[in-house]
Parts: sequence; structure tokens; C-alpha cells
Amino acid sequence: MTEEDPIPRLAVLGAGVMGVSITTLALGQGVPVTLIETDPAKRADAPARIARELRTAQLMGVHPGTPRAELTTGSSPADCAGAEVVIEAITEDAGLKSAVLTEVSAVTGQDTALVTNTSSIPVDELAARLPRPESLLGVHFMNPSYLIRTVEVIRGTKSSPEAVSSVRRLLTALGRRGVFVGDGPGFVTSRVLHRMINDAARVVQEGRASAEDVDTLMQDCLGHRTGPLRTADLIGIDNLVDSLRVLHERTGDEGCRPCELLLEKVRAGEHGRKSGQGFYTYTGVVS
Ligand SMILES: NC(=O)c1ccc[n+]([C@@H]2O[C@H](COP(=O)([O-])OP(=O)(O)OC[C@H]3O[C@@H](n4cnc5c(N)ncnc54)[C@H](O)[C@@H]3O)[C@@H](O)[C@H]2O)c1
Repeated sequence: MTEEDPIPRLAVLGAGVMGVSITTLALGQGVPVTLIETDPAKRADAPARIARELRTAQLMGVHPGTPRAELTTGSSPADCAGAEVVIEAITEDAGLKSAVLTEVSAVTGQDTALVTNTSSIPVDELAARLPRPESLLGVHFMNPSYLIRTVEVIRGTKSSPEAVSSVRRLLTALGRRGVFVGDGPGFVTSRVLHRMINDAARVVQEGRASAEDVDTLMQDCLGHRTGPLRTADLIGIDNLVDSLRVLHERTGDEGCRPCELLLEKVRAGEHGRKSGQGFYTYTGVVS
């Protein structure tokens, strides 16, 4: 990626909620993507899910007139070879993420910037396990990435100026505004939001109000855009619980220990929009 050619060669790891969302954003902005997913069913399904999201984005007037870029899929971190920026959006598990990023480091050059989309794991914790810790930054894209124009950017203590500048160019190509924040469990957004969602679920668990009533009060009285429990469904309750565990383990804050209702929903497979059922029921939107 040079100043003359600002379109980065981008690889995205993971075709879950966020991998699909980030890929949709990139393709809509004219940035080609190699999307890598280990689960064969999810990999096969990803192009159709992305096409649906692109159609929705178009209907909402996002990316008007930008020609869509090409999507390629792959099954292994080795398919990141040749990428200038790699965005990791796999399951919220520090061991899995550092293993995959180590594999990516082995097939990419030292100029390749590695970006983790982790919600909660400190960037320095992941970087410490990598052969080139200076290549890693955190960029916290949220869902749907094509609608949310601001991203939280986390510079690790070892992140190099070159990696920072690659990420700045990526954000320009994607039309996103980065807000740089300090490292630490949950950074800013998950540290605040995830604990609040956990409290909202606890209120429902205690029988004090229904999910609908909690969301209505938070929306109408406090100006929360979607309500915390609809947000939980959008995030994915399985991912939310993983992130709360990361926060609880690293901060000791009891408010971050996932409440029983969230754990029950994960056990029951009620993961939110992606499974068709969470705090609410969804038809025809499973992705
Ligand atoms: N869901 C959200 O709203 C949201 C928002 C911001 C950040 N995040 C973060 O983004 C990351 C992904 O979250 P998600 O909600 O998309 O999770 P998800 O469970 O929907 O998807 C994760 C995907 O990664 C795949 N995967 C696992 N190991 C892999 C590997 N080695 N190589 C390639 N693919 C692999 C899984 O098969 C799965 O499809 C997490 O770190 C999460 O905390 C999520």
C-alpha cells in the first residue's frame, strides 16, 4: 500500500458476525478482500451473507456509486500471504487469536500490519505472544460496520509507527474515523457497554422488567439507540459472554461476571440474531 495506491490488499480472518460485517464494509468501499474461515459451512455461506448485507447497505444509501471490489475466500492463515493488512475477527479467545496471528506472521512480510478486532483482550497481551509484536494494533469495528463510521483504535506499547500508518491508510480507504484510546481490558467501549448489558440482563433475570421494557426505558428515557438487550442480540450472546469472561478475569470486577440468564441463553443456543433467537425472535435475518 503506497500513497499513490491507497487501496490495501486486505485479508480478513473469520466469517462470523464481524468478519462478514467488515468484509461488507470493505467491498462496498472498493477494497478487495480475501476472507478466511476454517468452518466449511460458514465459508461456503459467506458470499451469500455478504451479498445480502451489501444489498441492505445499498438500500440504505451507503456506498452510493462505488464499484464493488472482488471477494476471495480461503480456509487457512496461509491464504493471508501477500496481504498488506490482515484483520483478525475470530472467536474471542486469546489462545486461539495469538496462535492464528502467529501463523499469519509466518506467511506475511514484516511490512504487513496485523489488526485484531478483539472486543476485550488487551493488545499488549496478544502482541507479547507474537514473533513481531510491533506489527499489531487493535481496531474495534462494530456491527454493522458499514453503518458505524467511527472505530476505536488501540495502539499497543510496541506498535510501530509503520503499523500505525498502515492502519490510518486502511481507515481512510474504508471511510472510517479512528479514535485512538489506551490499551486495557475492554478498552473504552466494551469496558462500559458490556457491563451495562450484563446489568440489563440481570434486571430481566430478577423478574423486575421484561427485555422489551428494559430496552424501551433505555431508548426512550436515556437515548440509547437500540436498547442494551437488542444490542446483545446484535453482538451475539455467545460472543458477549466470552468478552465478559475476558473482562472479569482481567479486572476482577464482579459486575463483569456473566449473569446466569446470559449463560442460560448460550447453553440453549439462543445466541441472538445470528441464531434467530436471543432476547427477541428473528425471522429471515440469520447470518
Ligand atoms: N459481534 C460483535 O458485535 C463484535 C463487535 C466488535 C468486536 N467483536 C469481536 O470480533 C471477533 C469476532 O466476533 P464475532 O461476533 O464475529 O464471532 P463469531 O463467533 O460470530 O465468529 C467467529 C468466527 O471465527 C471463526 N474462526 C475460529 N477460528 C478460526 C481460525 N483459526 N481461522 C479462521 N476463522 C476462525 C469461527 O468459525 C467463526 O465463524 C471477536 O473477537 C469479538 O469479540 C465482535
